[in-house]
Amino acid sequence: MEKTFLMVKPDGVQRGLIGEIVSRFEKKGFQLVGAKLMMVSQELAEKHYAEHKEKPFFGELVDFITSGPVFAMVWQGPNVIATARQMMGKTNPVDALPGTIRGDFGVSVGMNIIHGSDSPESAERELALWFNDKGTVDYEKTI
Ligand code: CMP
Repeated sequence: MEKTFLMVKPDGVQRGLIGEIVSRFEKKGFQLVGAKLMMVSQELAEKHYAEHKEKPFFGELVDFITSGPVFAMVWQGPNVIATARQMMGKTNPVDALPGTIRGDFGVSVGMNIIHGSDSPESAERELALWFNDKGTVDYEKTI
């Protein structure tokens, strides 16, 4: 079964949106198989955002993601990677449609509430980086 890495960013945690976000994925029918509230180290932030290393906003990205707790999650389900991206909405909340998480709650491209893996390759890399085979639970979804 496909798995993806989703993370409520520090702005989402500060604004009390963890429950709302978890609820949307639960109601959709996906299965939560791992979750942790955590501070992000400089090293983890730099590894997570490695593909943006040359971008002018790299420093801002790392500063923001290490600025307060994040809620890191593993979700499982059919086509969960692409579907979660649709539910999140476009990266820039200006372009994100109402009904999506960023469309409903976000206003800035830097503080855009949630991160989600954008492809099967990213999901594999990010799950290994953030969960490292620890802190996830294999259980059967019965309903
Ligand atoms: P995410 O998809 O989680 O990972 C890369 C992040 O870079 C993206 O979310 C945005 O939050 C952020 N980002 C993209 N473009 C900009 C920008 N122009 N300025 C600041 N942050 C940006």
